[in-house]
Amino acid sequence: MERVPIQLTVNGQPYQAEVEPRMLLVHFIRDVLNLTGTHIGCDTTSCGACTVLWDGRPVKSCTVFAVQADGGEIQTVEGLERDGQLHPVQEGFWEEHGLQCGFCTPGMIMTAVALLQENPDPSEEEIRKAIAGNLCRCTGYVNIVKAIQYAARKMRETAPATAGIAGGE
Ligand code: FES
Ligand code: FES
Repeated sequence: MERVPIQLTVNGQPYQAEVEPRMLLVHFIRDVLNLTGTHIGCDTTSCGACTVLWDGRPVKSCTVFAVQADGGEIQTVEGLERDGQLHPVQEGFWEEHGLQCGFCTPGMIMTAVALLQENPDPSEEEIRKAIAGNLCRCTGYVNIVKAIQYAARKMRETAPATAGIAGGE
């Protein structure tokens, strides 16, 4: 089958590849780039295990062709950690036991990261609404909500200090 050249940035790294037009973004991420933190739970846009950020917005990568994301910026769960420091959302899942088998966790975390970028102080209802497209078969969601609340608190505590330094006043 004909192959199409694409160019993508994934977790800040530029990549070029030639892919079949039918290749799904999730398969590109897992099978071509070997970033297997992004999971496939259903392949039918139901479970959210494959959620990544595409130009900052959460998408189910089993529902996007790799060629559609040409020129875009993708962030996967592997790109969250900085210098050995977990992202506050990852830390929240650790501290609040927001997982059991962990299969839904990468997608859940990416959805939460996108939510907190847009809404730093979400209510419980807003959190539950944001993760409505991410299914978890183990936890009952209570600790996932707590994990996201933990991350929101932590990000709010650290954000003003950073803004003060950036403002230089
Ligand atoms: S694998 Fe994409 S939504 Fe389930
Ligand atoms: S922790 Fe098992 S599916 Fe969510």
